[in-house]
Amino acid sequence: MKDKNTQLHASSISDPQHFWAQAAQTIDWVSSWEKVLDDSEAPFYHWFKGAKLNTCYNAVDRHVEAGRGAQVAIQYVSPVTDTEYGITYAELQAQVSRLAGYMDSIGVKKGDRVVIYMPMVPETAYAMLACARIGAIHSVVFGGFAANELATRINDAKPKLILSASCGIEPSGVVAYKPLLDNALAQATHHVEHCLILNRSQLEASLQAGRDVDWQTGMATAPNIDCVALEATDPLYILYTSGTTGQPKGVVRDNGGHSVALAWSMKHIYDIEAGDSFWAASDVGWVVGHSYIVYGPLLVGATTLMYEGKPIGTPDPGAFWRTIAKYNVKSFFTAPTAIRAIKRDDPDGEFLNSVDLSCLKNVFLAGERCDPDTLHWAEDKLKKPVIDHWWQTETGWPVAANLMGYAPVEVKAGSPALAVPGYQIEVVDVMGEQVAANESGNVVIKLPLPPGTLTTLWQNEQRYVDSYLSMYEGYYLTGDAGYKDDDGYLYIMSRIDDIINVAGHRLSTGRFEEVLCQHDAVAEAAVIGVEDELKGQVPLGLVVLKKGVTLDEQELNKQLMGLVRKEIGPVAAFRLVSAVQKLPKTRSGKILRGTMRNIADNKKYNVPATIEDPVTLDIVRNTLTRMGYADAHV
Ligand code: COA
Ligand code: AMP
Repeated sequence: MKDKNTQLHASSISDPQHFWAQAAQTIDWVSSWEKVLDDSEAPFYHWFKGAKLNTCYNAVDRHVEAGRGAQVAIQYVSPVTDTEYGITYAELQAQVSRLAGYMDSIGVKKGDRVVIYMPMVPETAYAMLACARIGAIHSVVFGGFAANELATRINDAKPKLILSASCGIEPSGVVAYKPLLDNALAQATHHVEHCLILNRSQLEASLQAGRDVDWQTGMATAPNIDCVALEATDPLYILYTSGTTGQPKGVVRDNGGHSVALAWSMKHIYDIEAGDSFWAASDVGWVVGHSYIVYGPLLVGATTLMYEGKPIGTPDPGAFWRTIAKYNVKSFFTAPTAIRAIKRDDPDGEFLNSVDLSCLKNVFLAGERCDPDTLHWAEDKLKKPVIDHWWQTETGWPVAANLMGYAPVEVKAGSPALAVPGYQIEVVDVMGEQVAANESGNVVIKLPLPPGTLTTLWQNEQRYVDSYLSMYEGYYLTGDAGYKDDDGYLYIMSRIDDIINVAGHRLSTGRFEEVLCQHDAVAEAAVIGVEDELKGQVPLGLVVLKKGVTLDEQELNKQLMGLVRKEIGPVAAFRLVSAVQKLPKTRSGKILRGTMRNIADNKKYNVPATIEDPVTLDIVRNTLTRMGYADAHV
C-alpha cells in the first residue's frame, strides 16, 4: 500500500489547490471560495478565502436534515458519576441552538471571545458548538489548570462570557471549579461581564448576583437560533498551549480549513464515516479533545464518546475495553501513558478476557512518543493494529500517520509512519540543510501548512513568526527533533525547546521556573523533564536558595510543590525538587538544562567548552542520584 500512499501524498503537494478542493466537497458551504489557497500574504496563508460556511451547521444541523436526527451524536460515559446517556443529533441541535440563543440574548456577537472552563460533560461540547453557531470564538481552558493559569488566558482572550461548572470529578474526589473561576476573575485585569454556571448534583456553586447565571435558568427562557454564515477564514477558536515562556501561546484555528481537514482525517486516517462510533479518550481542554472528541467525529456524522474517567481506577483497568465493546467503538484513540497505566495494573491483560472487542478495528496513540514496549504490549494484548501518529496543538490534526482508512502501511515500532498528505516534512541541521536518512535533526514542515493548521497566534502575529517561521525561511519549526529512516518513516525523539510532556500533557519548564522563583527562599531555579515509566516525563526542579535561608529541606520542598500546584494546577504533577548550591551554566549565563536532563536520564553528554564551572555538574549529578536519577555508575 506504500505506493498508493506515496501517490496520494505527492498529489497533495504537487497540486494542493485541486487536492483540497476535492476534500472540501465533504463540507456544506453557504457560498464557494474565490481561491482554495491564497498566498498573497505569505507567510500568512488563507485557505478557502471568500467562502462562507458554518462549522456548527456542518457538525450538527446538516445531519438532522439528512435524516440522522435519531442517531446518537454524543455518547456520554461517566464512571466517576455512574452516569451514561446518549444525546441524539436532534437533541444536540436543540441544546446547541438554545445555548447559542442564550449567548446572543446577552449580547455575545460574532468575533467575541467566550472562555469555557468545564469538566468532561456534554454541556462543554454544547458550549463549543454554540459559539461556532454564532461566530463567537471559544477558548477552552483545561480543568486541571489553576486559577492563575485561567486568569492569564482570560487576560489574553478578553472574553465577554465564561461558561463553567460547579465541579469536576477526579478519582481523588470532587474538584470545585467555581472557587477557581472566582479566584481567576479576581486576579484578572480583564473584566468579564457574564458567567453561565452548570450546577452539577455533586456540588452546588454559589452564584454572584449580576454576573453569574445558573445554566438551567439561562437556558429556560433562551430562544433557539440558527447558524450564521461565517467566512472560512474567520477564527473558530483559540487554544492556549505551552510555549517556552510562562505566557501560553494562543493558537488560532479558522472555520473552513479546519472543517475540511478534520473531515478528511476522519475518513482517511481514522477510517470513520457517518454512523460509526469513535472514541478519543482525552479531555476537551486539549487539542485532541477539540479535534477528535467534538469537531472531527461530528463533522462526519459519527457517534463520539465523551468519557469522564481515567484508564485505571475508575473502577479498574478494564474500563476502556468494556466501554469500547458496549458502544461498538470502531476506532479508539488514547495516549501511550494510558496504555502504560493499564499495562502496569493489568500486565497480562486479564480484563480483556471477558470482553468482545470484535467491533474495534484500530487503536491510535498520540500526545507523546510511543515507546516500542508499550506499542508491542498493546498489539499483543488487543490483537489489533496499534497506530502511533504525531501532531501538535498547532497543527490541529495529524502530521505523520498511517492512513488506516485509505492505504495502511507497515507498522514500525517507534515511528508514527509517513507524512500525511498536505505536509512536507523535512529533517534539517542547524543551517537548514536536509540531513541524510537515519541522521537526527530538527523536524520542520515546508510552507504552506495544509488547511486546519494554526493561522496565527491570538493577537500576536509577531510571536507566531518569531516562534515558528523565523528559524528556517519558508519552513514551520515543529520544535521536535528526530529522523527519517531509509523508507521515509519519521521518528520523533525529543523536543528542541524547554517544553516537557507529562502524561501526554504539554507543559513549559519556563513556567515552572517562574513559579519556583516566586518563593521567598529561592534565588534561582531550573526545571527539567526526567524520564518516568508511567507518565513519559515528569518535572524535576533544582533550586538555589537565597543567602541565609535556614528553612528545613522537607518543609521547603513541601512549600514549593504546593506553590506549583496552586499556581499551575494539579496537572503539573510536581513532586521532585531539591536545593543545590549552584546551577551549571555557560559563561554567558545560560543554564545547561539539556546536559542536566541527560545526566538525570543516564544518557551520554558532552561537557560544553563554555561551561562556567565544571564542578557544578558534579553537584547536580550527586543531587540527582540522591533523588533516584542519574545512576552513579554511568
Ligand atoms: N480537572 C481537575 N483536575 C484534574 C483534571 C481536570 N480536568 N485532570 C487531571 N486533574 C488532576 C488529577 O486529579 C491529578 O491530581 P492529584 O495530583 O490530586 O491526583 C493531577 O491533575 C494529575 O492528573 P493526571 O495527569 O490525570 O495523572 P494521574 O496520576 O491522576 O493519572 C494517568 C495518570 C496515566 C491515568 C492519566 O495521566 C491519564 O489518563 N493519562 C492519559 C493522558 C491523556 O489523556 N492525555 C491527553 C492528551 S492525548
Ligand atoms: P500537544 O501540542 O500538547 O499536542 O503536544 C505536541 C507535542 O507532543 C509534539 O510536538 C511532540 O513533542 C509530542 N508528541 C505528540 N505526539 C507524538 C508522537 N506520536 N510521537 C512523539 N511525540 C509526540
